Amino acid sequence: MSFRVRCFLVFLTFYVQGGLSRDYEANLGANNLLQRIKRQSKPSKPVLKVTDYHVRCSVVSRYAVTTVQSSVWNQLPVTKEAAFEVDLPSSAFISNFTITSNGKVYVAQVKERAAARKIYDAREIEKFRVAVSVPSGARMLFSLSYEELLPRRLGRYELSLGLRPGQPVQNLTLDVSITERTGISFIKVLPLKASRLLSNTAQGDVDAPASTHVERSATCARVRYSPTLQQQNSISSKGLNADFIIQYDVELRDLMGEIQVYDGYFVHYFAPRGLPVVPKDVIFVIDVSGSMIGTKIKQTKQAMSTILGDLREGDHFNIITFSDKVHTWRKGRTVRATRQNVRDAKDFVRRIIAEGWTNINAALLSAAQLVNPSSSTSSKLGSFRRVPLVIFLTDGEATIGVTAGDTILNNAKKALGSASLFGLAFGDDADFLLLKRLALDNRGLARMVYEDADAALQLKGFYDEVASPLLSDIQLSYLDDQAYDITRSLFPNYFQGSELVVAGKVKPGVKDFKVSMSAIDSKKHVKLENDVLLSHSNGNGTADSFDCSAGLEGISSFVHRLWAYFTIKELLLAKLNATDPAMQRLLADKATNLSLKYNFVTPVTSLVVVKPDEDEASPSPTTPKPTTAAAITTTVTTTTTAKTSAAIDGDPHFVVQLPKLHQNLCFTVDGRADDVLRLLEDPERGIIVDGHLMGAPSKHGVEDRSRTYFDQLTISSATGGSGDITITLSLDAVVVEGEGQDVLPINQQGSVRRQGVTVTVDNHRSCWIELAKDVRFLVLFHHYKHPSYLQMAHLGFYITDGRGLTASTQGLLGQFQHADMSVTAVRDYLDRGAHKEAISARGILRWGSEHMPVTLQDKTLKDTVRKRHTGKCWVVPKAELERLLGHPYESYVVDRV
Ligand SMILES: *[C@@H]1O[C@H](CO)[C@@H](O)[C@H](O)[C@H]1NC(C)=O
Ligand SMILES: *[C@@H]1O[C@H](CO)[C@@H](O)[C@H](O)[C@H]1NC(C)=O
Ligand SMILES: *[C@@H]1O[C@H](CO)[C@@H](O)[C@H](O)[C@H]1NC(C)=O
Ligand SMILES: *[C@@H]1O[C@H](CO)[C@@H](O)[C@H](O)[C@H]1NC(C)=O
Ligand SMILES: *[C@@H]1O[C@H](CO)[C@@H](O)[C@H](O)[C@H]1NC(C)=O
Repeated sequence: MSFRVRCFLVFLTFYVQGGLSRDYEANLGANNLLQRIKRQSKPSKPVLKVTDYHVRCSVVSRYAVTTVQSSVWNQLPVTKEAAFEVDLPSSAFISNFTITSNGKVYVAQVKERAAARKIYDAREIEKFRVAVSVPSGARMLFSLSYEELLPRRLGRYELSLGLRPGQPVQNLTLDVSITERTGISFIKVLPLKASRLLSNTAQGDVDAPASTHVERSATCARVRYSPTLQQQNSISSKGLNADFIIQYDVELRDLMGEIQVYDGYFVHYFAPRGLPVVPKDVIFVIDVSGSMIGTKIKQTKQAMSTILGDLREGDHFNIITFSDKVHTWRKGRTVRATRQNVRDAKDFVRRIIAEGWTNINAALLSAAQLVNPSSSTSSKLGSFRRVPLVIFLTDGEATIGVTAGDTILNNAKKALGSASLFGLAFGDDADFLLLKRLALDNRGLARMVYEDADAALQLKGFYDEVASPLLSDIQLSYLDDQAYDITRSLFPNYFQGSELVVAGKVKPGVKDFKVSMSAIDSKKHVKLENDVLLSHSNGNGTADSFDCSAGLEGISSFVHRLWAYFTIKELLLAKLNATDPAMQRLLADKATNLSLKYNFVTPVTSLVVVKPDEDEASPSPTTPKPTTAAAITTTVTTTTTAKTSAAIDGDPHFVVQLPKLHQNLCFTVDGRADDVLRLLEDPERGIIVDGHLMGAPSKHGVEDRSRTYFDQLTISSATGGSGDITITLSLDAVVVEGEGQDVLPINQQGSVRRQGVTVTVDNHRSCWIELAKDVRFLVLFHHYKHPSYLQMAHLGFYITDGRGLTASTQGLLGQFQHADMSVTAVRDYLDRGAHKEAISARGILRWGSEHMPVTLQDKTLKDTVRKRHTGKCWVVPKAELERLLGHPYESYVVDRV
């Protein structure tokens, strides 16, 4: 079990900075458990108009190049920030990003990264986000391109394109062309998918979204979708926010697959159809440690029950459960999947109880014994070959027995022999890295199972992919003197519905191309050889056999880029698999060089964007342009330049308490003087809290940085039959207005009760506001006896009891009221030196599907009960702020107090 904070955040404080030091205020509050809720929509403010939104995608032989373009127009009288966000598959590489403003094109540059970026993908999705200030009246065009090879899974390729313009758009189009030389066997457009959860609905005849046009011929297809404003509005008044999904498969009659050669590069797709399924020896290894208790074990049991029912008669299987101890369902061997055995196994699964620690090592060794029973039985295997598979599911780290990763890896590799190990990391606490390395070492692969309502379907889906082995130990070879720089060509298994892909370079002048394949099928070794005549596939940008031309722009470069894409992925995998640091460095270098050459944003490169607004802000044209790295984030460490990571603290600062950990979450919002911010809004209870910001002198050296404090707060509440009540707090008085008015000066003690609301001023220092049972706020008046130039009197606002607020509570602070957040510490990090602050740890903050990096720092906190003191605070970097808040600053600005 890893270090984990499951904090049900209840209590939250708000704070404005009061002096020269970086200090934060926190408050002590009552904790209670509240269920997690989805983020609510925030109050909306005028936003920039998106005039055009176009998604174009061209797929040539499974290689998809997608461009997302969005044009915004600032129709407002003031400068506003425009954010451009794209969700892209985490397997994709960004290959270009440009901003066009005023006829000028700003092209982002791909640069080397000092430390490899870690990808914490949320559901295999990465978020790209960049924000730019747009002057009044100006237009700006964002354009992002990314490339990916569509993998074949369960007999189809799936192309998923995000349509998330953020508002209804006049001119919204999606245009996809697919070109497959050997023919398209089917193509299907699914309904728009708003949720990323898998669903169980039968994949019958489902309707494509209205206004979808599909045209197809034998080898190509064109899909267009251009919903009108009305159609968009009928889906949601906030515009589309969904994935457009196309599934298709290709014809592949040649057993040897398809080979394409362009410009000295080749790609080989190997996916023979119609082979008999080879029976398997499958061992299910299931973590039943304490952390699985609850939903996870329930979902696992549910998935196992379906999976067991799907075993074929010829399959053999066994089940191992492990926590501190390892329990094997049938001792010593796998058993045939007879009806009776399956029934018994389901019974066994039903009775599983989760408790105890996690002994990964012992579990793996027990599994190995079952797939490689010592000699006596192995002679029989010759005639009835079965493919040994271990499906290993865990939700944690090794916590008992052998816990050192390297030892576990060594032991497993020795014991497992030729068995393939598939690691399933259930939830974010699982040691996914260990599972990946285990899989790399043992002929398998590792997957995340996201902790969500559809986890059982995810498990079943993964099992389905490996349920039908067709071939083992597949070696694809190309005659040595013809081909070189070949990607991996030896594969442990080929499963039904998948595809093996090899890319490489071809010597110039080669006229025909010899390829051979050797593998083991159900009974024997098979060997095939083929000559591929290059004249068929020799392309020059001209497309002889294609009968549609939309997708052919990149045809001559696609194999080339595919080779680079594939090679980079392999280099990064090999780096993960390597143990020698020098080798790791070399592999990273190679991957970096290739990424730079092909302009790919990969884990070893970053994207540097020159923003038009910053460009114009630079004092003289000769100074280097300030650059900001785009937040290619799923929680990726957002690359920030020195300029933005300097220790400038804007105000106001917010502190959210993570009660269980006795730590806080801190973030800073750069406010603007005279803005009124919506701090909290509970539409159901009719409670609203707004705060007015005043400007303060800038600190020396950072004159361009505004500083702001709250000098007025307005709390209003619908008190039912008796009408509304409004409490206005300023630096010298509290005014309570409802049926009549009371003024409480802050320099004396006093209390009023009106329409069920109690307001109590405690001489000079604080004011308690009890709106209802379980809704209590505290406002602190911060005055300085001998204020320095920078010390301004200001107000602090605290939710001391928010239990009575409903789940639909929103606002800058209100949204955290019922949030289920967790912080997981990350142990390995590399760029310690880059930060001035004393960072004592790094972690990942998770909130719903959002993940973001946070750093643990010591901060001066001010409590109501204690004087200033130092406390630990997980600080959310400024670059992630908008993601934390879910909306830009602007959307929290309301017009007037
Ligand atoms: C990126 O797009 C811009 C504008 O279309 C183009 O000028 C530039 O060459 C592209 N860069 C790459 C590497 O494709
Ligand atoms: C919509 O955008 C496309 C692509 O930029 C353009 O060709 C077309 O003229 C636009 N249509 C309208 C109605 O503005
Ligand atoms: C990873 O390395 C091990 C040896 O350390 C090797 O046996 C295995 O094949 C490698 N896996 C891959 C996918 O390269
Ligand atoms: C490719 O096209 C160019 C000009 O379009 C032509 O000169 C060349 O011979 C072509 N190459 C091949 C291999 O067809
Ligand atoms: C990467 O490129 C640099 C600069 O071109 C070169 O010095 C280095 O040898 C290359 N590294 C590898 C591993 O190819």
